Amino acid sequence: MWNLKGIEINKLYKVKHFVEKTSYCEVYSANEIATSSMVNLSIYKKSEIANDDLDDDGNLREIQFLEIGIDAFPKLKTFGDFKHENIDYSYIATEFIVGESVSDRIKRLGPLDEYDTVKIALKLCEVAEKLHSRSKPVLINGLSADNIIIDMSQSEEQIKFRNLINMRLMSDNFKYNYIDGLSINQVAPEVFENNFSPKSDQFNIGALVYQIHTGSFPLFSDESINLKHPDAKDRFLEFRNDAYSLSNNISTELRSVIQKSLSKDPNERYDSITELSRYLNKERIIEGGETLDNSNTEFNIGENKSEPLVKRGNGFADIAGMDELKNTLKSKIIEVIKRPEHFKKYGVTIPNGMLLYGPPGCGKTFISEKFCEEAGFNFFLVKTSDVTSTYKSGGEQKIGQLFKDAANNAPTVICFDEVDGIMPKRQSGESSQHKNSEVNEYLSQINKCSERGIFVIATTNKPDMIDTAILRTGRLEVHVYVPPPGNIARKKIFELYLKNRYADNNIDYDKLASITNNYVASDIEFIINSASHTAAIKETPISMDIILDVIKEFKPSLNEEKLKEYEAARKTFENNDKSDNNSRTPIGFRRN
Ligand SMILES: Nc1ncnc2c1ncn2[C@@H]1O[C@H](COP(=O)(O)OP(=O)(O)OP(=O)(O)O)[C@@H](O)[C@H]1O
Ligand SMILES: [Mg+2]
Repeated sequence: MWNLKGIEINKLYKVKHFVEKTSYCEVYSANEIATSSMVNLSIYKKSEIANDDLDDDGNLREIQFLEIGIDAFPKLKTFGDFKHENIDYSYIATEFIVGESVSDRIKRLGPLDEYDTVKIALKLCEVAEKLHSRSKPVLINGLSADNIIIDMSQSEEQIKFRNLINMRLMSDNFKYNYIDGLSINQVAPEVFENNFSPKSDQFNIGALVYQIHTGSFPLFSDESINLKHPDAKDRFLEFRNDAYSLSNNISTELRSVIQKSLSKDPNERYDSITELSRYLNKERIIEGGETLDNSNTEFNIGENKSEPLVKRGNGFADIAGMDELKNTLKSKIIEVIKRPEHFKKYGVTIPNGMLLYGPPGCGKTFISEKFCEEAGFNFFLVKTSDVTSTYKSGGEQKIGQLFKDAANNAPTVICFDEVDGIMPKRQSGESSQHKNSEVNEYLSQINKCSERGIFVIATTNKPDMIDTAILRTGRLEVHVYVPPPGNIARKKIFELYLKNRYADNNIDYDKLASITNNYVASDIEFIINSASHTAAIKETPISMDIILDVIKEFKPSLNEEKLKEYEAARKTFENNDKSDNNSRTPIGFRRN
């Protein structure tokens, strides 16, 4: 290390911390003295800079690319030279990015899900398109996952590039052995003939997409020889004769998109990066080798349920207790969806979706239905049974159509009952591919659906079975545990169910509540129905004695042990929530 920590550079910067060393430069964080803000300094020893890295004026080539000012490039502050202990250095100061590289993210959390992968891929395509279409086209020539940074400084993660060291004008005479920091698996075959083109950039992007989504390199084997290795070319050509091995652990569509962008023959790749991004974005899909237009498909969940329903009923008035939840739903969601313009002025937005979870029979499905009645919005109810019976094929397109119909009828609530069956954790293996791609489709549809006037409610008693990406910020982000009713709630449920029935005046509701610990709402409903039946046969009012007799005979559906299990599941789930919120927000940069 060059030990530049603590020095001052040209009265502009005070070097703070060493960040990393690459083969050609050292990176430090520094303080910009005039503003006290943090900057990133890439420092080069002048004597070690390769000629090829300098332009005709003797400046680092990277500077001209930073100057293009593409949003994914770090903002250029200044650049210059300085001397320290008689050694000459050059430096480039850029904005400081708070975040981690994609390769660090993969090390920390494992490969990214398809949704996040595609988001990054689309950003890479967007940048490449901009560079390729300049009047003097620029090529990326070699980007590694180390040099893609997830900027976590804002509420939504953004993708940034760093070390634009391999970038060149298309007209420059670039050579494969100049490429820095890449493996032989990440570059196109023609690169070894020193042919660099938008098509070789496309290959590079395809290889990155594969790596981000699977955690390994795409071709041949795990062999990842640095291009600087003297045998790189020979080793590469040797491997090239072997067959491709792309993991089966990727959805069929994404796999075929990657495969095409990695074709050995550049003519077999997509015609342009724009074309590649259309396929990644599913504006086009490949099926059996044919291209389908993905915009005009029929949707039919269950029996012709593509027409939304407007639920009529008493709404929240039918729910006993749960006042806090009702108030939250009213003020944070219903009001905001009803008056979007008003709330927008104050910067208040609604969440995308909410998960209600907890033990069975405690009212999750009930609350979500009552929510729809209360709100008076259009609503779609999707139950597991509907999904499994009609989603035999083409599931993703139907899902897409569901959200399209919902958006056309906005504001709309889509309610997924027993969502663990609809959006289960994605699994590896051929047999899960169909389900996995449905889950992927849900991921992309639910993401920021509130912007299209859609609010999603989902219910489950098995929250740990749901795909975790579904539960993150921007998707089903609000998680509410619906516990068994407490004493007061049970009293209210008894009152509610007996309200309009032929019952004695002297029912002791406090007593009923106190002897029904662990009885859930549906148990109480059952008790009252059963007592009513007995009373009807006897042709007497429903009495305290009749109810007590039923309770004696009827065991609560929850016992202490089961309840403890649910509580433990709740704890784990809440803890995951906390660590997730700290460590991982969705990658939600804008698509153009
Ligand atoms: N707060 C409540 N007030 C009045 N009735 C309620 C309440 N909560 C639940 N119920 C009654 O209990 C029945 C069962 O509740 P629900 O089906 O919503 O439970 P759930 O939590 O969805 O259970 P599961 O996890 O098994 O799907 C409802 O049909 C409703 O009649
Ligand atoms: Mg339910």
